[in-house]
Amino acid sequence: EMRFVTGVQTCALPILRIDPHSYADLDQGTTRHVELEWVVDMEARRLTGVATLTLHAAGTGPLDLDSSDLHIESVEDDVGPVQWTSDVSDDIVGTRLRVHRERPTDTLRIRYHTGDASGLMWLEAAQTSGTTPFVLSQCQPIQARSLAPLQDTPRARMTYSATLTVPPSLTAVMSAAPGVVQADGRVRFEMPQPIPPYLLALAVGELDSRDLGPRTRVFAEPAVIEAAAWEFADVERMLETAEELFGPYAWERFDFIVLPASFPLGGMENPRMTFLTPTLVAGDRSLVGVLAHELAHSWTGNLVTNADNEHFWLNEGWTVYAERRILEALYGTERATQAAALGRQHLDGVIASRHAAGDSTALTYSQTGLHPDDEFSQVPYEKGFLLVTALEQAVGRDAFDAFIASYIQTFRFQSIDTQTFVDFVADKLGPVLDLDPWLHGQGVPEGAPVFTSERLVQLHDLAGRWNEGARPASDEMSVTEKLYYLSCLPVLGADDVEALDEALGLRLSKNAELRSVWLSCAARAHLAGEDDAIRDFVGTVGRTKLLVPIVRSLVAAERRPFASALIDANQERLHGSTVRSLTRWLGTASSA
Ligand code: BES
Ligand code: ZN
Repeated sequence: EMRFVTGVQTCALPILRIDPHSYADLDQGTTRHVELEWVVDMEARRLTGVATLTLHAAGTGPLDLDSSDLHIESVEDDVGPVQWTSDVSDDIVGTRLRVHRERPTDTLRIRYHTGDASGLMWLEAAQTSGTTPFVLSQCQPIQARSLAPLQDTPRARMTYSATLTVPPSLTAVMSAAPGVVQADGRVRFEMPQPIPPYLLALAVGELDSRDLGPRTRVFAEPAVIEAAAWEFADVERMLETAEELFGPYAWERFDFIVLPASFPLGGMENPRMTFLTPTLVAGDRSLVGVLAHELAHSWTGNLVTNADNEHFWLNEGWTVYAERRILEALYGTERATQAAALGRQHLDGVIASRHAAGDSTALTYSQTGLHPDDEFSQVPYEKGFLLVTALEQAVGRDAFDAFIASYIQTFRFQSIDTQTFVDFVADKLGPVLDLDPWLHGQGVPEGAPVFTSERLVQLHDLAGRWNEGARPASDEMSVTEKLYYLSCLPVLGADDVEALDEALGLRLSKNAELRSVWLSCAARAHLAGEDDAIRDFVGTVGRTKLLVPIVRSLVAAERRPFASALIDANQERLHGSTVRSLTRWLGTASSA
């Protein structure tokens, strides 16, 4: 199948690509290692330095790299200067940096500095819980190219090393072995295992850290470190449990960092340094599922990697499955079942709204010309999870555990596509399940696994009898149970919403997930007096998933101007992808 770049382009011929979101052409050569030398300039808000790419083999002719708003100063090989052009540009894919190799070379030294990097968030002290500025990266799916010129496709796995100059009072962490301070004061990092470029990661700020076990350490701003260490105290046990399920941990250490609130995600599986939102620090360990999820990516995602964003479900569907296996092993079947049931509730809502908008709910489809951020949804997560579970149920737990082990063993340190998965299933398991409706069909196929329990049936019934005056007893409910119960409720009016808060204590909850649901219920019900709370929440939380429901409710309540003003007021502290998705919801019909 041929794919062509859409958008601005000054060369006459269309460009053939295997990854719809990258200019990389692996027939020209493949990166083996990237050596980064960066001065992290917190004032100018840029990285200045050198990226040295080493290829697997020496070659001549063009080498196409991805870049996004990079200012290239020079390109050299071992002998001298090398010609380069950046004359092809696309709104989604970025700018093609074509290096013209006239003599055989396997080394390219590119001197450059970053521009308005979509992969970096530069925060002022006021946007942290401390007194110094902070910078953090988010490279998945296609932002690594805004940090350095790279073959930014997961198919081009690379090792990396980095030498950083950072302000003396600040600490740097990367998705690599722990940094080592050199005699010259610079910090050196090594990632000796080949990773997809989207796992390149960096954070610099005032950081403290605590060991939680022999292989695990938490980093956070000083004001947060104690609470973070308490919240995630189970992590070493989690790591051991995951190893029992999925085989030896391949990355030596599992350290993680709790970031300032602007971080747009729940978590990001940067190898050896998972990134987490501070909204997980709820004081009751109720949201550690996200940590289990990022840990599970150490096998599904970081070892076995999606070949490009069209196969994203291979990362996330498998990881949601693995996450729930960890939860089951650590906390019991009921907790895992409840997580799956809540996931199904969300999936059904997402499928309905995507169908209404004419968007695909297949697990894999062509994304040529589409921005990966716009394609992001719960579908690859929850429908992917259901597919993996359907396979497990088709062959039984024991046979499936053996399949998981051979899947990971066979494809470790490889980037694979959906067809490779399909062939592997056929080979190892035979025709146990018709994968087509799962992969290419819309919605959830008939016969999909169902998750229920006595407790879930009770909660579902209780929610169904809201209008008859049935009310839940808050002190007997876990956070997941509350979220599940809330997801079963009909849309409520203002008086009912007040009663709901009385029953569940949502308004003053320390749990940001519950507060997000509360504020979105309140907004949808036109509850007077909650605008300040909404302003405060949107002004302090950066996690997209918690902000979207509030904006959607404001749209449903015909309060687009208020929602729009909220987004504007927080442009500076929110991530570009967050602003992008909130703004998209602002533009949708109010039936949402
Ligand atoms: N890898 C994802 C985050 C991501 C996805 C970043 C797509 C950029 C593009 C991460 O593992 C993730 O899924 N995070 C979830 C956690 C949840 C599913 C437990 C999140 O942030 O909400
Ligand atoms: Zn994930």
